[in-house]
Amino acid sequence: MKVSERTSGVEYVIRDIISYARKYEDTGKPITYLNIGDPVRYGFNTPPHIKQALIAAVTNDQNYYAESEGAPELREAIVEKESQKGFSLCEGDVLVTNGVSEGLDMILASIVDPGTEVLMPGPHYPPYASYTKFYGGRPIEFKLYPDGRPDVEDVASKINSKSRAICIISPNNPTGEVFDRKGLQQIVDLASEHNLYVICDEIYDNIIFDEQFTGIGRVARDAPVILLNGFSKAYLMTGWRCGYLCLNARSRKLDSLRENVAKLARVRISSNLPVQLAAAQALRGPQDHIQDMVHKLRKRRDYVVKRLNAIDGVFCNLPRGAFYVFPKVDLHGRWRDDNEFVLNYFHSTGVLTVPGSGFGKKFGAGHFRIVYLPQISILEEAMNKLETFMSKSCK
Ligand SMILES: Cc1ncc(COP(=O)(O)O)c(C=O)c1O
Repeated sequence: MKVSERTSGVEYVIRDIISYARKYEDTGKPITYLNIGDPVRYGFNTPPHIKQALIAAVTNDQNYYAESEGAPELREAIVEKESQKGFSLCEGDVLVTNGVSEGLDMILASIVDPGTEVLMPGPHYPPYASYTKFYGGRPIEFKLYPDGRPDVEDVASKINSKSRAICIISPNNPTGEVFDRKGLQQIVDLASEHNLYVICDEIYDNIIFDEQFTGIGRVARDAPVILLNGFSKAYLMTGWRCGYLCLNARSRKLDSLRENVAKLARVRISSNLPVQLAAAQALRGPQDHIQDMVHKLRKRRDYVVKRLNAIDGVFCNLPRGAFYVFPKVDLHGRWRDDNEFVLNYFHSTGVLTVPGSGFGKKFGAGHFRIVYLPQISILEEAMNKLETFMSKSCK
């Protein structure tokens, strides 16, 4: 039986790699999973007040379909959060989705036509490219400097009559790089000049280590900016699937998109109501767990970066947000590409990481991604194994 050609470009390397792990598991040897960015799997538990809000909603029979745009109390809390970050919006500009993933799908479904192009950072979180391809478009990667600033000349040189949008992911996955105010402003200016949408993913906005975070709202003015955000990471609700998209209230250029995404929201009825009510409490309730998490992650980041840079043939920048590192590896004469490197490292040690080319062929190749969410003792063991693996492969 046939399946649609559309799906042939869909990849998600972070989970696609798990098929190797399943086979390895059959050997009975232990696996250290450093592949999935899910803090809840590594002992960062959902805070009690959020769990209680979910239980209360279910117990109080708030188990019906929600409004397609999202529960009013959650949209109100989202307006408060995002306005504080400088984004212009009211409740009508917010749409609650089943994770940022669904928001991204809805936006790309609404703006990509076959043959059009979407610019995205190189490297980038894989669904940006997968959904673009699924809707018949072409992902175009632009260059970032090691400190996270976009290479504006490179972005400008890649804009043409087929371009529809420029994506920003800040902090970025897989690099942890954070866009600064100037970089954000430059992208917004370019997009306004060329009539392009700006899609900005701020799912890691609370997981920042070294400086103040600047949100896209601070520079958006009346540009056609779409903000994506969610509860998976800082609120430790990965399995609950809750996120949202916000459309810049000041942009008239977003009027058609506004109607279109609302239609897509209605056709999938609504997102999960008890989870939305818990998400409202996540925004309104205590925030202390975030500071505690960032504190632990900063230590883990510093440890992993130090260890990686001490290994011959591995080079790693200091990420300024999220919980990933994206080291470059000297493949020369040892491995054909980053896929072979990651599989060899996995088969020799049981440590599962993700090949860099899955985050974009051009800028991801020759790298691999490590999630540094586990405790230092687990990271230490993985780094010891990497050190031995690299030194053996030199001989
Ligand atoms: C940049 C980025 N956006 C979106 C997501 C997915 O978010 P959600 O769980 O809200 O679908 C992830 C998950 O790793 C991510 O790294």
